[in-house]
Formats: sequence, C-alpha cells, structure tokens
Amino acid sequence: MAEIINELISEKEIDRKVRELGRQISMDYAGKEVVLIGILKGACFFMCDLAKRIEVPVCIDFMSVSSYGKSTESSGIVRIIKDVDDPVEGKHVIIVEDIVDSGRTLHNLTELFKERNAASIRTCTLLDKPDRRVVDLKVDYTGFVIPDRFVVGYGMDYDQRYRTLPYIGHVSFT
Ligand code: IMP
Ligand code: MG
Repeated sequence: MAEIINELISEKEIDRKVRELGRQISMDYAGKEVVLIGILKGACFFMCDLAKRIEVPVCIDFMSVSSYGKSTESSGIVRIIKDVDDPVEGKHVIIVEDIVDSGRTLHNLTELFKERNAASIRTCTLLDKPDRRVVDLKVDYTGFVIPDRFVVGYGMDYDQRYRTLPYIGHVSFT
C-alpha cells in the first residue's frame, strides 16, 4: 500500500497560528513563569516554535507516552515511557500536544499533574479532531480544528515517517 500526502495546512498558516497562540499565552500568564511539557515525539516541533513566541519566562520539559505504532486508530492505553525531568509541584504547567484525537492522552496527563500538585494545569494543542473524542476534555489553547482525517508533518508521523515535513498534510492510501 502506498501513501499520498496532500497539503492541508501550510507552513505559513502554522507560523501565523503559533505566533497567535504565543501572544495569547503571554497575556494569560503575564507576571508568571510557565512550564511547557511537550508530548514526544509529535509535539516537539510545535512546542519549540511555540516556546519562542511566548514572552514570559518559559521552562521546557518532555514526556513520552505510548503511541499508535503503525495503526491509525488509538489503542486507548496511555503508558508513560519517559517522565518529565523536573517536578511540577507548584508550577504553572501547559501540556503541549500535536493533536487531540480521543482526548485520552491529555485527559490522563491532566489528572496525573493534578495528583502531582501543579499550581495550575492548562492544555494546548496545535490540532483538534473533536469528532473522535471519547472523554470529556476541555482544551485551553487550540490551533486548528480539523475533520476526522489522519494527518502527518510538523512533528506528526505515520509509522515514524513524515515528521519532518514543514507543513501538515492529509494521508491517503492507494
Ligand atoms: P488521543 O489520546 O486519542 O487524543 O491521541 C492523541 C495522540 O494520537 C496524538 O498525540 C498523536 O500522537 C496521535 N494521533 C492522533 N491522530 C493523529 C493523526 O491524525 N496523525 C498522527 N498522529 C495522530
Ligand atoms: Mg502524540
């Protein structure tokens, strides 16, 4: 089976949106310090670009949780593969995702950071596929809402490929 990638969101549109999210976060966290926690590997490109657009002091950390493997359907299990390096207790945390699908990843991680006594917890995602939500999740910062289609690029993969595309594309299979 071969894949075809069609551009859905251009590099320019991504850049504009990232700046907008950075401005919003800078206003909301004025006078505070924020910890961005990126979910590896998909959110890595987005989080690094976003961090540069935030004008309050920013610390970055990363977590890795179980991913889809080769399937395009969520397994429903969130397993911690790599935890954050520094404790979140008393910190203002923003969990940064590439895309929210079922919502389980962000929901479970929000609960985890609550247990760890973060001072505040918000969520930020570049993309949201609300049609596929199975848990009740409120995302605080959303870049683009997209239909239920599998996408790659700007950090997101299909079977570990296409992450380095500078734009976001839709995958179709021939
Ligand atoms: P959730 O826990 O079901 O919300 O899954 C979110 C995670 O699934 C994201 O962080 C991605 O790693 C992965 N994912 C969901 N949809 C896509 C997609 O269209 N392309 C690539 N990865 C996806
Ligand atoms: Mg992910």
